[in-house]
Amino acid sequence: MRAKREANVTETNRQLKLKSRPQGLLAPGDLQLAEAPLPSLSDGQALARVKYLSVDPTMRVWMAADSYLPAVAIGEVMRAFGFAEVLESRHKEFKKGDKVVGLTGLQDYCVIDAVDKRGSFQKVPPIPFLSDTAFLGVLGVTGITAYFGMMDIAKPQKGETLVVSAAAGATGSIAGQIGKIHGCRVVGIAGGAEHCKWLTDGLGFDAAVDYKQPDWKEKLTAATPKGVDIDYENVGGEIMRAVIDRMNLHGRVVLCGFISGYTKAAPEEVSLGLIIVKRLRVEGFLILDYVSRYLEAATQLGKWKMFGKLKDRETIVEGLEKAPDAINMLFTGGNIGKLIVKV
Ligand SMILES: NC(=O)c1ccc[n+]([C@@H]2O[C@H](COP(=O)([O-])OP(=O)(O)OC[C@H]3O[C@@H](n4cnc5c(N)ncnc54)[C@H](OP(=O)(O)O)[C@@H]3O)[C@@H](O)[C@H]2O)c1
Repeated sequence: MRAKREANVTETNRQLKLKSRPQGLLAPGDLQLAEAPLPSLSDGQALARVKYLSVDPTMRVWMAADSYLPAVAIGEVMRAFGFAEVLESRHKEFKKGDKVVGLTGLQDYCVIDAVDKRGSFQKVPPIPFLSDTAFLGVLGVTGITAYFGMMDIAKPQKGETLVVSAAAGATGSIAGQIGKIHGCRVVGIAGGAEHCKWLTDGLGFDAAVDYKQPDWKEKLTAATPKGVDIDYENVGGEIMRAVIDRMNLHGRVVLCGFISGYTKAAPEEVSLGLIIVKRLRVEGFLILDYVSRYLEAATQLGKWKMFGKLKDRETIVEGLEKAPDAINMLFTGGNIGKLIVKV
């Protein structure tokens, strides 16, 4: 028998389920809105209301095929990170009012399960100067990704030149600022004048290159007069090729993501030949491997933010039903900073 629920808790749960695997950008109907009854809780479970959803390029990967996680099955609620607040609990680690981040899925409510082997929900502490959405952005997956990509792999040194692609996005904007904190010359590659202006005027990057302009490769050359020591790679394809062309001997390439390929059946490959000629150190990484060190990253990112060394920006889309459009925005340059859906 279900306990009586609070008046502001609906009896149904809107969910976006994967109906078909997208070809290219998401088409209407690839994700379909459905309603399910709210589940009754068993011992060891908690019910949480999803407040914000993180919109991540990897969601497009999860829709397509098995990769580092199994593909989302057809008919399943679409996998997504989110921020939620516990409404009811029969779980010993969570109580009503707790705020959590984790794999909520694209839905209004999620169940936190004690037997969830992935341990996929973490409580977030109340910190006065931080908004709830910061736990999806600067202190969430994207900020933490930028932190480990820069601190563990790039290891930036004063005076080096760092190039960041998708630099006006959630991960790139933080990676570039970490480079500035460490005394690098930082060049961001982004699409359009507004994105580029934010990088230079808003974040203090030394230069920004608009890859949507026909002369962007010449601009990249002009912006990197001493070559490139670190490529923080978020895009792949033609952009990565142009950055590798500018790299100095023994440079480091941090392979964070290849967003230019996620909507393509045959993504452009970058030739490995230049890596030998330039003796580059190339390392890919997944943030999932750093779970045990998230607190270290969040603590440092929080300090940098508190002392004004790190700025973050968010693009917020309102409404669960808008999540499919929001996912497409990542691939069409519709966001600056962290893209979030307010449920
Ligand atoms: N390794 C990991 O564990 C990990 C974790 C999180 C994210 N990532 C990767 O990090 C990258 C950024 O993710 P994010 O969540 O921070 O997203 P984001 O950068 O906030 O959004 C994606 C941005 O990519 C740019 N973009 C999209 N298609 C492009 C194309 N064809 N060519 C050039 N730029 C393009 C767009 O910026 P413009 O409009 O300015 O071009 C867009 O705003 C992705 O590759 C993602 O897969 C990796």
